[in-house]
Order: sequence, then structure tokens, then C-alpha cells
Amino acid sequence: MKSRILIIGACGQIGTELTLTLRNRFGADKVVASDIREGNEDIMGEGHFELLDATDLAAVEDVIFRYKVDTVYLMAAMLSAIAERFPAKAWHLNMTSLFNVLNLAKDKKIKKVFWPSSIAVFGETTPAQDTPQLTVMEPSTVYGISKQTGERWCEYYHNKYDVDVRSIRYPGLISYTTEPGGGTTDYAVDIYHRALKHGQYRSFLNKGTILPMMYMDDAIRATIGIMDAPKKNIKVRSSYNLAGVSYAPEDVAASIQKVIPNFEISYEPDFRQAIADSWPESIDDSIARKDWGWEHKFDLDAITKIMLDNLEERYK
Ligand SMILES: NC(=O)c1ccc[n+]([C@@H]2O[C@H](COP(=O)([O-])OP(=O)(O)OC[C@H]3O[C@@H](n4cnc5c(N)ncnc54)[C@H](O)[C@@H]3O)[C@@H](O)[C@H]2O)c1
Repeated sequence: MKSRILIIGACGQIGTELTLTLRNRFGADKVVASDIREGNEDIMGEGHFELLDATDLAAVEDVIFRYKVDTVYLMAAMLSAIAERFPAKAWHLNMTSLFNVLNLAKDKKIKKVFWPSSIAVFGETTPAQDTPQLTVMEPSTVYGISKQTGERWCEYYHNKYDVDVRSIRYPGLISYTTEPGGGTTDYAVDIYHRALKHGQYRSFLNKGTILPMMYMDDAIRATIGIMDAPKKNIKVRSSYNLAGVSYAPEDVAASIQKVIPNFEISYEPDFRQAIADSWPESIDDSIARKDWGWEHKFDLDAITKIMLDNLEERYK
């Protein structure tokens, strides 16, 4: 393989783990990590890294040309909670970066694109349980609107220009390597840090707020799985529903209490509650399972064990 993979937004929660996994798989020379800021030592220590603004088409094209990139994973975006504070900036970043990459694929400067969507494409009028692949989509957040619009453009570029763009609707993602990037499901990561540090957690989402979640390793496997699948198997060119586990804050607390019996949770919902209330509780991902063999592995207790085991050192 002469060509390389470019990850844009490589220093974020998903980009960091994706970069490390792809470097392991293909070798450090084959992967170019990029972001608008520098990342942690795992990202910066080994392999190619470029400071790159995803909204700057000429700069993105230059990196693609210099490194002979044929595949782009576009992970740069402004996430749901922050986007509500900066709607115009969020729209600009989320849409301009996507158009830049789709247009480079349309002009045959790259061959394959991965772009993540989110469960935020759904809204209050969407059926909340086992949300189907095809359903009512009336997102009420800036972030959700940008992801739904992005899905439409991905499908359009595929249908009109044969762009090989692949996408999944990630649920809330749980990982310990980096801090979460300002989303509505961030509580489900913060809670483990607080459990170890303070033995208690004040949740910004209320008791009973069930949301779809996934452990990061599952999300990375899904991302690489959909990119590895034969082109003919990818029948959905907007974005695939993807599911792992669904749970509420009190479920995480109960799972933590199995390991730290004195752990306590309290509830003080803020503006993120309204966002969470507009999202589904569980997702039907049978089409992803059928089309490209998706299967999740981690349930809540397995996630809790990994999070506590790996974060323990940090708070000793
Ligand atoms: N983490 C989740 O739970 C989750 C859930 C659903 C969808 N997603 C989607 O997955 C993708 C990655 O999410 P994440 O959680 O890793 O986000 P993150 O906020 O942790 O990382 C995004 C990265 O993009 C970088 N970035 C910001 N502006 C940039 C620019 N102009 N040019 C280049 N880089 C820039 C940031 O520095 C950051 O490192 C996003 O599209 C997000 O919408 C994430």
C-alpha cells in the first residue's frame, strides 16, 4: 500500500484511539494524524502529525497531496453541548469540513471517506425505543441539525458523484484515554473519574434519563469494520444506526457500587437535560448487523470494570 490514511481531528476522544489503532494495524508511516491543536504524548510521540484546520480546503488538500493520502477519517466537529453555545461556529466547522472532504473525493483526490454522524440526528418526534434506521428525524439541536444535513449531503455525493463515503450514527462513547469533548453523554465518562477521586458524583442528567452508549473499543471496531467492508455491502449512504448498550445515570451508579460500595450519586440537571430528552433511549441497528456484520461486545459492567481499572492509577 503506497497511499496513506489521514485523520482530521485526531487529538479528540475518538480520533486519539482511532489513530493509535490504525497505526498499530498499518504501521506508523501509513497514518497521518492531524488536528487544529496538539494532542497527548501517544499521538505526538510516534508517527506523522500535522497541525491542520479542517475548514481550510487548500491546507487539507496540501496535506493529502504531500502524504499521498487516499482515505480520510473526518473526526473534527463541534459537539452537542458546546454547539448550543456557539451555533454559527458549530455550523461552520461541521459543514465546511465535511464539504471540503466530500469535494476532494468528488474530484478524485481521495478514494474513501469516513464521516461520523450521531444519535443527535433524532428528535422528540422520533420513536424513542428501538429507533429504526428509517424514521422521523426532527433534531432540535444545532449539532443534530448539522449531522442530519451532513447525512443528506453524504448520500447525495454518493448518488450523484459516486463518492465512497461511509458513516455511522455513534451513540455516547465511553473511554478513559482522553477527556470527552463537550457532548451530552459526557457524564457517563466523568462519573468514573469522580467515583475514584471523590467517591461521589453530581449528575447533570436526571435519574431515569436512558441513552444509547458504547465503549470506545466497540466504536473503533465499528469504524474500521464499515471501512473494511466491500463497497457493495454498504447500502446505506446517509449513516447507519449503531447500538451498544442503553442505560441511565443510576444504572452506572449501581454498576460502580458493585466495585465501590460507598459511591454516591446525586442529580442536578442543567441545559443538557433537554438535549438528552430529545434523543432516543435505544437504537435498532439490525441493518448494520446485516449489511456489514456489526456486533457489539461490551455491556455496562464490562465498561465499568475497564474504566475503573484503567483510571485507578491516576487517582491513587
Ligand atoms: N464522543 C461521542 O460520544 C460522539 C458521539 C456521536 C458522534 N460523535 C462524532 O464523532 C466525531 C469525533 O468526536 P469526538 O468525541 O472525538 O470529538 P472531540 O471534540 O473529542 O474531538 C474533536 C477534535 O476535532 C478537533 N478540531 C476542532 N476544530 C477543528 C478544526 N477546525 N480543524 C481540525 N481539527 C479540529 C479538536 O481539536 C478535537 O481534537 C465528531 O464528528 C462527533 O460529532 C462523537
